[in-house]
Amino acid sequence: MSEELLRLEHLSIDYKVKGGYLSAVNDVNLSVNRGEILAVVGESGCGKSTIAHSIMNLLPGGNEVVTGKIIFKGKDLRTCTRREMEAIRGKDIGMIFQNPLDSLNPVYKTGKQVEEAILLDGIDRLQAWNKVLDLYRDVKMPDAEVRANSFPHELSGGMRQRVMIAMMLSRNPELLIADEPTTALDVTIEAQILEIIKDLKKTYDTAIMLITHNFGLVAEVADKIAVMYAGEVIEYGDVFEIFEKPLHPYTKLLMQALPRRTKKEGRLQTIDGNVPKFMDKKPCCRFANRCPFATERCSVEFPGETIVSGEHMVRCFLHETEGKEAAV
Ligand SMILES: Nc1ncnc2c1ncn2[C@@H]1O[C@H](COP(=O)(O)OP(=O)(O)O)[C@@H](O)[C@H]1O
Ligand code: SF4
Ligand SMILES: [Mg+2]
Repeated sequence: MSEELLRLEHLSIDYKVKGGYLSAVNDVNLSVNRGEILAVVGESGCGKSTIAHSIMNLLPGGNEVVTGKIIFKGKDLRTCTRREMEAIRGKDIGMIFQNPLDSLNPVYKTGKQVEEAILLDGIDRLQAWNKVLDLYRDVKMPDAEVRANSFPHELSGGMRQRVMIAMMLSRNPELLIADEPTTALDVTIEAQILEIIKDLKKTYDTAIMLITHNFGLVAEVADKIAVMYAGEVIEYGDVFEIFEKPLHPYTKLLMQALPRRTKKEGRLQTIDGNVPKFMDKKPCCRFANRCPFATERCSVEFPGETIVSGEHMVRCFLHETEGKEAAV
């Protein structure tokens, strides 16, 4: 069995907002193994970025309440000091975002910014610059040397995302968290960036948490899938198993919407709309008001995690007798 790198245990995150606490993430249990791509899929507002930021200790600070554990290589990151966390960020765990411009400095050439990250390792400038060019080639940057000497605004969105990936690679993190890295890109570039992400897994043995609202996208890259709804992981498992045998009524709905490629773009169906917000932790299934199979019980009880086979987990009363309760 491959080595577990990251494990989230009963992770819950509430934001203090006007009128109470918004339950953005509720009782999430997930793990990512070395060299594996876990796709976290869900509609906008279902808590994906909140989870990513909590792992990196990058939540806004001030209005959130976090409970549960974030275990990276056996250590609960929530017990780390700020300094320890700074050392882990970038070096052990890297993150790329939807908009690379937010992470790039507009007044420095992109290659210089990647070089800075490399120089921290104590190698000389010439070696560092050559490594920058190697990395640009690794991420298949067209005209690597020209782009390394360009400013961020001179590059396209796809090229900027390549710079961010090169910067991440320079530190060779064990875990890469990619939060909607292709959402702002057009389909052709999106496919290229996903190929690069897949290559990373192979070449560098990096574990990747790929966050996306595009369900169609994940089939081609992920090993495992976690489907989220309203702050909860409602189904989790091997990519083939989930696509072959989806169990949760919500996952099934997503599947039904899937095979259609829109003619105009060739883009696979994404999930529409926003999920409802939950201001309290009233026991219920959060999908109850949209579920065609809901019974009275679904509005008064919290469905637990049922392991139906291997690692395939579903949170739904319909399947509780088909497997055993998860032992998290
Ligand atoms: N800083 C914040 N303060 C209050 N509510 C927030 C904050 N950040 C996110 N939220 C809310 O938390 C929920 C989850 O948001 P987010 O994690 O960004 O979802 P996703 O990345 O899946 O779109 C949403 O309802 C969002 O409005
Ligand atoms: S627990 Fe009930 S409401 Fe929730 S998905 Fe299952 S059947 Fe539907
Ligand atoms: Mg997000």
